[in-house]
Amino acid sequence: MDDIKKFEELLKLPSKYYLTTPIYYVNDKPHIGHSYTTVLGDVLSRYHREQGVPTFFLTGTDEHGQKVQQAAEKQGITPQEQSDTTVLRFQELWKRLDVSNDFFIRTTMPFHKKVVQEVLQELFDKGEIYKDEYKGHYCVPCERFFTDKDLGPEKLCPECNRPVTEITESNYFFRMSKYQDWLIDYIKTHPRFILPMFRANETLGFLSKPLSDLCISRPKSRLSWGIELPFDTDYVCYVWFDALINYISGVGYRQDDEKFNKWWPASCHLIGKDILTTHTVYWPTMLKAMGVEMPQTIFAHGWWLVGETKMSKSLGNVINPMDMIDKFGIDAFRYYLMAAMTPGQDASFTDESFVTRYNNDLANDLGNLLSRVLKMTVRNSNGVIPEHGEFGQEEHDLAAAMDNAIISMYAAVATMRLDDGIEQVINAVRAGNRYLEATAPWSLAKKGETEKLNTVLYCSAELLRIVSILLDPVMPEKMAEVRFALGFDRSERPKFDITELRAFHRINVLSGRKVNDIDSLFPRFIVDKEDLPAPAPKVEKEKKVKPEKTYGVITIDDFGQMQLLTAKVLAAEKVEGADKLLKLQLEVGATKRQIVSGIAQHYTPEEMVGRHVVIVANLKPANIRGIDSEGMLLCAKSGKDLKLIAIDGEMPSGSSVG
Ligand code: MSP
Repeated sequence: MDDIKKFEELLKLPSKYYLTTPIYYVNDKPHIGHSYTTVLGDVLSRYHREQGVPTFFLTGTDEHGQKVQQAAEKQGITPQEQSDTTVLRFQELWKRLDVSNDFFIRTTMPFHKKVVQEVLQELFDKGEIYKDEYKGHYCVPCERFFTDKDLGPEKLCPECNRPVTEITESNYFFRMSKYQDWLIDYIKTHPRFILPMFRANETLGFLSKPLSDLCISRPKSRLSWGIELPFDTDYVCYVWFDALINYISGVGYRQDDEKFNKWWPASCHLIGKDILTTHTVYWPTMLKAMGVEMPQTIFAHGWWLVGETKMSKSLGNVINPMDMIDKFGIDAFRYYLMAAMTPGQDASFTDESFVTRYNNDLANDLGNLLSRVLKMTVRNSNGVIPEHGEFGQEEHDLAAAMDNAIISMYAAVATMRLDDGIEQVINAVRAGNRYLEATAPWSLAKKGETEKLNTVLYCSAELLRIVSILLDPVMPEKMAEVRFALGFDRSERPKFDITELRAFHRINVLSGRKVNDIDSLFPRFIVDKEDLPAPAPKVEKEKKVKPEKTYGVITIDDFGQMQLLTAKVLAAEKVEGADKLLKLQLEVGATKRQIVSGIAQHYTPEEMVGRHVVIVANLKPANIRGIDSEGMLLCAKSGKDLKLIAIDGEMPSGSSVG
């Protein structure tokens, strides 16, 4: 297929659209990250609905597992109570944000639990799930086991870099490893399966190492909050195995075949980049084992950073969506989320960038254009949008700017570049403001050039009508207000029909409509520090996690290249002006040497004299702060802790170590 055909194929409207968000843990209230995914899902769903595509939009909450159990314990309530109260925070926020989900799934709903148990039983009966003893390292926050080889030398969780606990227990395993080759091939032959493309490469990188089987159970003795395994009541199901199934149980799997066949396979699972492996490795292999078709696309978006820092409760910089809505309104918040992030990449949130975008795009460009058009229509045409006259170059240029916005927005939906589509629409709005300046309708009125004046009034109103349709999924309430101002009914649902929209003046649905007076659409936000949502406390720039050091394999000969010797400290003193350094005089057998070592914060000179230490004797000599140093002392290090390597008993200095 050539590129144009591929692009046309991509832009063809699908026969149905089924979109999901991740289901959110109910261990804490929602933040800007959750809002982003849900609003993105909502906007994409609305675009499809407005294009006449049958659409199902699913979101919900992930209510089992350790995180929820621990949150409940902290509050002194049951996990069910924890879920029942926290779920309301999500539901209230989605309602406030005008989220148009078709269903809200909770994994504690009986029908979902039943489906999970049926799936478990079927896979167990087919031999896809088996019991085995397992020794591993468990990361509590990630709720995942890791093998020795998964962990680096510092034995930290490879996902979150936190310490892990070693556990041995009997558990049930899903034969995930047997699908490794199939999955690699599937990803390679389905270029739209994992998007953006670089995330597919990330998954393929993960799959380049042998894939283990997946531990899908947790003994109740350790974690009781979960769905019981139907074939062993001592265990509950691993939270991810339970949660992923929501994508099929939520549309009728094993309950309503007609419904399930109507919506499955999902058109798109929207996820954040941190849950890529669970969605692009666990989920496809689970589906394969169940004999269920693959979803069409798994799209991983980036993260919202606060400034340049990761958002986290411990840093106290979590952005609360409710505060943003209170201050700027629902649609302004939705607009910012969609306009300021390129899906797939990280984006930086700051109050300043919010206010700037709001004032520039919404107050100055869009709000201002609407209020000018309304005022001019009232003043010059008794508030009725007139018939237009002949189009001149200026009108053709305006129509071209509008056409670009329509096509861009249409393509943006199919290619997940909503930010790009929105930018083109705002560019068209700017073209509208420039058009008014260039044609100067106020002077046309004075000069009595009515036909041209009518054309200007019509064209600028038509531009606003089209903009209100293009941005309707992003700002449903405000765009309905724009259409109301232009004489339409507030409840009229717009249709995103690309052919009709591109007709511009050839299909005239405006002339003769009486404009309505409305409050300022987006009042300019005057920056008063007091007015901004409670500023996040200043946080130190998060320390970059050092990439884990990797160690290659060395031979005994390589090791033999290193001359390790014992040495006795004869004298020690601090190095002036360097609070970490000690200058040591050492006896190494029959010879003497001087070494400068960075141990001054752990050992005083007095403590050092008389000690026996181990040195790397053949290290290339160095000059440290103007002092010659021949070799290096060996120490053990952990975080900030440091201890010298000592010799167990008496050995003459100069003895070899190895
Ligand atoms: N419960 C699982 C998902 C199961 S789906 C079968 C989960 N829940 S979560 O509540 O921790 O996270 C949900 C989503 O929020 C993830 O997609 C995650 O990427 C997203 N975000 C969390 N913090 C974020 C930002 N700072 N920015 C953008 N999204 C982020 O994982």
